Amino acid sequence: MFAPRIYMERRRRLLREVESGLALFLGNEESPMNYPDNTFSFRQDSSFLYYFGLDQPGLAGVVDFEEGTATVYGDDFTVDDIIWRGPQPTIGERSKAAGIDRTAPIARLAEVLKEARRTGRRVHFLPPYRADNAFKLKRWLGVDPDKAAGKASVELIRAVVEQRAVKGPEEIAEIDRAVDISTEMHVTAMRMVRPGIGEAEIAAEVHRIALAAGGDIAFPIIGSVHGETLHNHHHGNRLKKGNMFLLDAGAESPGHYAGDLSSTMPVDLKFTGRQREIYEIALAAHEAAAGALRPGVNNLEVHLLACRTIVLGLKDVGLMKGDPDEAVRAGAHALFFPCGVGHMMGLDIHDMEDLGEVYVGYEGRPKFTQFGLKSLRLARPHQPGFVVTIEPGIYFIPQLIDKWRAENIFTDFIVYDKVEKYRNFGGVRNEEDFLITPKGRRRLGKAKPKTVGEVEAVRAEPRI
Ligand code: GLY
Repeated sequence: MFAPRIYMERRRRLLREVESGLALFLGNEESPMNYPDNTFSFRQDSSFLYYFGLDQPGLAGVVDFEEGTATVYGDDFTVDDIIWRGPQPTIGERSKAAGIDRTAPIARLAEVLKEARRTGRRVHFLPPYRADNAFKLKRWLGVDPDKAAGKASVELIRAVVEQRAVKGPEEIAEIDRAVDISTEMHVTAMRMVRPGIGEAEIAAEVHRIALAAGGDIAFPIIGSVHGETLHNHHHGNRLKKGNMFLLDAGAESPGHYAGDLSSTMPVDLKFTGRQREIYEIALAAHEAAAGALRPGVNNLEVHLLACRTIVLGLKDVGLMKGDPDEAVRAGAHALFFPCGVGHMMGLDIHDMEDLGEVYVGYEGRPKFTQFGLKSLRLARPHQPGFVVTIEPGIYFIPQLIDKWRAENIFTDFIVYDKVEKYRNFGGVRNEEDFLITPKGRRRLGKAKPKTVGEVEAVRAEPRI
């Protein structure tokens, strides 16, 4: 946890942003794997963590905008609980660490909310993404669980998004730490890859590093010879000569801040000529996008710059043709790059995605609908304190190639006969994390090997 003053200041700021009523922040419950006592590892709700700091299940927090108070609700352990899970500080003791001296049992929360409803006070809540919290809203506020996300308070969502989007120095230090651990995960993978090793063996070691650092992974590890599948969580293949291995993995720091890096490496000690060519185009797009980050620049421009760089490179190797700007405007590049250039990162790997991408990335405007562009998560001007990922890639997805070819689309821009020769190439991506500074950007955490020379130098080191 941070110092109590950090949480007090965060709540003070929130009090200024919302007009009236109460804000109900629901902490998470344990999440059963296959029966109630056998649970996934506990992950607290990020907005609850942000304002209340407490990392235990079964809690809720209320900010009262008229009284200017904050209260934590939850039940202390009984002796029955202590027998199985050991003695714990009381909720009153824990809450002091977040600068809160008002606590009460969870049953009291039901009464407070009932009274608020009776007197016509507004109870603001954020969109629930877990069923048990949706059911609490039903029980306490009479909100239909199927409609709960749509009934969330837009005023509270906007206030939370604008506050969490700009990271404080204490958060940036945590993110630097998460990225340092993530870099170690990636360098280790680069030392491990070789023909015959299993994807699962590499994923296991990458996960071990995150756990050994006192946190965990920030999201399920993507580690695959099929890098063309954007979120490939299958680790069942063995690496073969001629493959490339794409790793997209990040650590969550002990304070629950995320790192998120991607690397692509040859299974052989060196890239083949063709692998190198495509890798360098994707890397040029990465460097162009990262170099464009600064306050005031819209992330949409950063994305389109990456798209244009990819088109120019693919034209050079004969996979695309025609006017690059027209190709990007039409969306033809999305055959190779069907997603966005990056996203915000913080307590969540896709920061605040539970609050709605239109609020986080689009300031309330609707998202784009064009294939490719519709997957861009962030299209707003950058501000100092934003933390974002930059992760353009080039992917050869056989099913997408077949579909577009059969539809005979974008024939002015795509050289399908040549693309056919790459259908088993896989995918390539580099990803790093950046803080927007007053004058530009700073890459977060330790540098990871990225150029062809740097990656091959690590591949040449003694293997683990
Ligand atoms: N790096 C994983 C993701 O952005 O979803």
